[in-house]
Amino acid sequence: MREVKTLGLLGTGVIGGGWAARALHFGIDVVAADVKPEMERWIRGAVENAEGALARLTFAPLPPKGKLSFTTDLNAMARQVDFIQENIPEQLELKQRVLAEVSRHARPDVVIASSTSGLMPTDLQREMEAPERFLVAHPFNPVYLLPLVELVGGQKTSTAALDAASRFYTQIGMHPLRVRREIPGHLTDRLQEALWREILHLVNDGVATTGELDESIVYGPGLRWAAMGTNLIYHLAGGETGMRHMLRQFGPCLKWPWTKLEAPELTEELIDRMVEGTQAQAAGRSIREIERLRDDYLVAIQQVLKQFNIGAGATLRTVEARLYEENASGATAAPAGLQRMDTQVRPEWVDYNGHMTDSRYLQVFGDAIDALWRSVGVDDAYRASGRALYTVETHVTHSAEAKPLEPLYVLTRVLAVDDKRVHVFNALHRTRDDVLVATGEQMYLHVDTRAGKATSMDPAVREKLAQIRASQSGLPPPKQAGRHIGIMSQSGARS
Ligand SMILES: NC(=O)c1ccc[n+]([C@@H]2O[C@H](COP(=O)([O-])OP(=O)(O)OC[C@H]3O[C@@H](n4cnc5c(N)ncnc54)[C@H](O)[C@@H]3O)[C@@H](O)[C@H]2O)c1
Repeated sequence: MREVKTLGLLGTGVIGGGWAARALHFGIDVVAADVKPEMERWIRGAVENAEGALARLTFAPLPPKGKLSFTTDLNAMARQVDFIQENIPEQLELKQRVLAEVSRHARPDVVIASSTSGLMPTDLQREMEAPERFLVAHPFNPVYLLPLVELVGGQKTSTAALDAASRFYTQIGMHPLRVRREIPGHLTDRLQEALWREILHLVNDGVATTGELDESIVYGPGLRWAAMGTNLIYHLAGGETGMRHMLRQFGPCLKWPWTKLEAPELTEELIDRMVEGTQAQAAGRSIREIERLRDDYLVAIQQVLKQFNIGAGATLRTVEARLYEENASGATAAPAGLQRMDTQVRPEWVDYNGHMTDSRYLQVFGDAIDALWRSVGVDDAYRASGRALYTVETHVTHSAEAKPLEPLYVLTRVLAVDDKRVHVFNALHRTRDDVLVATGEQMYLHVDTRAGKATSMDPAVREKLAQIRASQSGLPPPKQAGRHIGIMSQSGARS
C-alpha cells in the first residue's frame, strides 16, 4: 500500500469538509471532488472554520500544512491521490456505482475507504475493481476534532488494506477501532441509535422535551462518557466486586420495561416536536455559533484528558509525542547537535500587552525539555518505573517580542550532566528572522518518585545526555547562562 501524501475526497459535504480540515492540518495534501462545483466554496469555508479550534488542539510542532485543491472530475481525482475517502450521501446504490467507477481509475495499491454510517463493506465493494483495498472507515462529526474512526472490512477486504488505513488514520491523530465483524450500523451507531430511538419514544409519548433529555445526559452520564465507556463505568457502580455485583443488583431490571428499542412511528407531529424542542434549545443561535462552542469545549476536554492520558487525551498525547520526535530528527535540524523544537504563539498565550505572556515561556521551555527527555529515553514508561527528572531551578531572560501566531523555535543545549543532575539551556528564536526572543536556563534533578528523593539516573540515559553534551562542546558558553537579575546589578541599582 502507498505512503499517503495526498488524500482524495469523494463528496465534500459536512464529513468531507471535516476530513479535509484534519488531513491538511497534519500536512497531507487534499484533492476534494464533488459533483457540485459550488461545493468548492463550501469546503474552503469549512476548512477555514475548523482552523481556529485545530490551532488550539495541540502545541506540538506540526509539519507544514497540506494544500487543498478542488475538482468536479471524480476520476481525475482518483488518478492522482494515494488514499481515497468517500463521503457521498448514505444511499447504497449511489455509493456502489460511484465506488465502482472510481476504483477503475485509482491505482490498485490506493486504499479506498467509505465514511458510511451504517452500510456494510461487503455490499459496497461488490462492483469494485481491486475490492481487497476497500474498507469502511466511519468517522464522527466534527471529524477534525473527534479521533474515533471505526474500521470495518468486508468479505474481500485484505488485512494489508486495514493495516495501511490504520497507519494513515493514526498519522493524522486518530484512534482507529477495528470492528471484528461487519454489522449494520457498525458499533458506535448501534449504541447511539438505541439512545436515539428511546429519545424519540419519550418525546412522542409526551414524557419529556428534547431539552430535558439532553440535560439528563449533559449533567450526568455525558461527563463520565468523555473518558470511560458504559461498561467500565458500570463496573465502578458495583462497588468492591465491580461488574459481578452490578449485574446481580440490576439484573432483575433487565426484565422491567425500562426501554423499548423499536423506533416509534415518525409522524409529522413527532417531527414538529423534535424541531421545536431543539430550536428552543438553540435559543436563536446559528448552527455556526453552536459549532464553535462545541469545538471550543471539545478542545478543552481533550486538553484536560491529555493530563490523565485517557481516552481521546491519550490519542492526542501519542500523536504529539510522535510530532515532537519527528521534529527533533527532522529536516529543520539544528546546528552543532543542538536539539530543535518548533512551536507557535497560540492566541490564548497573549497578554494585555499583545505579546506572549510570562508563564507561556516556561511552557515552551518545558515542551522543549520534554522533547529532549523523550530523545534520551525518559518517556512515559521511564516515569512509570518510578523515576523522573524534576525542575529545581529556572532563570529566564527576555530580549524580543513574540506576537500572536508567530512561529518560534527553541534550541536546547545540555551544559552539564552528572549522575543526578542535568543543566540545560534553551534559546527561543523567532522563525521568520532568527531573532533571539528569550532564554531559559534550568537545572533538573533525577528523583526516585516513590521514595521522594534524589537518585542516580539510568546509565543509558546519562550516556545519551553525555553524548549530546559532547556533540555541543565546540559551542561558546551562552552569555545569559549563570546570570542572576542582570540589569539591576549592571546599572548598580540597589533596593
Ligand atoms: N453527518 C454526519 O454526522 C456523519 C457522520 C459520520 C459519517 N457520515 C457519513 O458520511 C457520508 C456523507 O455524509 P454528509 O453528512 O457529509 O453528507 P452531505 O450531504 O453533507 O454531503 C454529501 C456530499 O456528496 C456530494 N455528492 C452527491 N453525489 C455525489 C457523487 N455522485 N459524486 C460525488 N459527490 C457527490 C454532495 O454534493 C454533497 O456535497 C454519509 O455516508 C454519512 O452516512 C455522516
